[in-house]
Amino acid sequence: MPTHPLIESFARAGQGQVFAFFDGLDAAAQARLLAQAGEIDLVELARLNRSLLAAGTAGPDLAGLTPAPFEARPENGGDPAAWAAARATGEAALRAGRVAAFTVAGGQGTRLGFDGPKGSFPVTPVRRKTLFQVFAEKLLAAGRRFGRPVPWFIMTSHANHGATGAFFAEHGWFGLEAGQVHFFRQGRMPAVDFTGRILLEAPDTIALSPDGHGGSLRALERSGALDVMQRGGVDTLTYFQVDNPLVRCVDPEFIGWHLRRGAEMSAKMVPKSGPDEKLGHFCAQAGRPVVIEYSDLPAATQHEVDPKTGRLRFLAGSIGLHIFDTGFIRRLAGGEGGRALPFHRADKKIATIDAAGRPVRPDRPNGVKFELFVFDALPFARHPVIIETNRADDFSPVKNAAGPDSPATCRADQLRQSVRWLRAAGVAVAADPSGLPPFAVEFSPLWADDAEGFAAAWARLAVKPAVQDGLYLE
Ligand code: UD1
Repeated sequence: MPTHPLIESFARAGQGQVFAFFDGLDAAAQARLLAQAGEIDLVELARLNRSLLAAGTAGPDLAGLTPAPFEARPENGGDPAAWAAARATGEAALRAGRVAAFTVAGGQGTRLGFDGPKGSFPVTPVRRKTLFQVFAEKLLAAGRRFGRPVPWFIMTSHANHGATGAFFAEHGWFGLEAGQVHFFRQGRMPAVDFTGRILLEAPDTIALSPDGHGGSLRALERSGALDVMQRGGVDTLTYFQVDNPLVRCVDPEFIGWHLRRGAEMSAKMVPKSGPDEKLGHFCAQAGRPVVIEYSDLPAATQHEVDPKTGRLRFLAGSIGLHIFDTGFIRRLAGGEGGRALPFHRADKKIATIDAAGRPVRPDRPNGVKFELFVFDALPFARHPVIIETNRADDFSPVKNAAGPDSPATCRADQLRQSVRWLRAAGVAVAADPSGLPPFAVEFSPLWADDAEGFAAAWARLAVKPAVQDGLYLE
């Protein structure tokens, strides 16, 4: 039987084991395996095996790290005029239709014990709206406010692409135009054993996994999403993670800071709530901003205190909120000037098969996955700017089934926001010292999506509703 060129190239690359069971497979299974193998860039993999496997488990370079500078909010000492100017610039860009929203939604709800795309997880206190519905309504509200629909790009994974599209269709795109929402799938990377050999999950299946949210930049290019943006006059992409319903999906101040600086990429920070909060850290290295994950920065460094301010020295936490210039994404995705995001190595327990094709379920790490992180683009960007944001109005992720960053903490943060908005509109409401009310209320983003909008909408109500359990306004 003539050999397939792909099989030959794998054999030449020392990865012939991928096709060890090929001859015994039926035609459909053979085609499936070949299609998966076709996704793999053997040259890239050989490079990763040399750099990340042979070199051992060394983490990122931590030499010469200092805290990254950031623009403080006006209430924390920042220049109010600069923030006002940023807001005006951002609003003008939104009115001009230059801005699109981008959600990385490759993740599943597994950590939440939820079976399905994470975006279909219900989060709001009264109506139990899902993450996707909350974002959709915020974008719809922004489109109405600025007179231009905000295009929305959503990156899915192989595991949830079909289910995500179906979820939107089932819900009538939550009121958005169907053509306003664009889905594309992220890429995958093969898992390898500690000698760099690609692992099989089954005789006809390669152990492939998502290439990380950093894979979004090349997926934006490969999928044609950047071309869609270019045709639509979009040059600014505002990026957020699927797990954070409090996010200001399109924030004029953030967009304005980014544009006024001529930044290729920008980021938001929050002061870490304590040394052990699991956030990436904005640092500076050789004059450029870098993000160092909580798992990579030594605990002693995370606990260092700045003697001048009495606050943590590495204070600036990354909450996964960025803005990109679309030309920058294109140049990075194309590897222009040798610039490419570095892969990170994660040692994992990977379900595989033995030489006889029998399943192996390891109880300790038996291989390596390779992932790209989107924040690694920051040091490549010209004129990057990091701005402070107010955590209570931008960040409360749902990551764990219980404890910190869980559905319960996120629900409480949504309720506290409602209390702040009510009080700012002059409504007396009971709440505990943390601002948590003894009842559940919810306001649709279509009714109000910030404190000012809320006060205006509340003032317009001829008859004010009683603020009581179950109040929902839309
Ligand atoms: C992430 C950041 C951390 C930041 C925190 C804030 C990393 C490595 N760390 O942590 O610096 O402080 O968020 O909330 O990102 N995703 C994909 N495809 C992938 C992997 C992830 O779309 O292949 C998406 C997920 O759906 C999610 C987001 O990326 O929306 C974040 O991924 P996750 O793995 O949950 O990151 P965290 O560990 O929470």
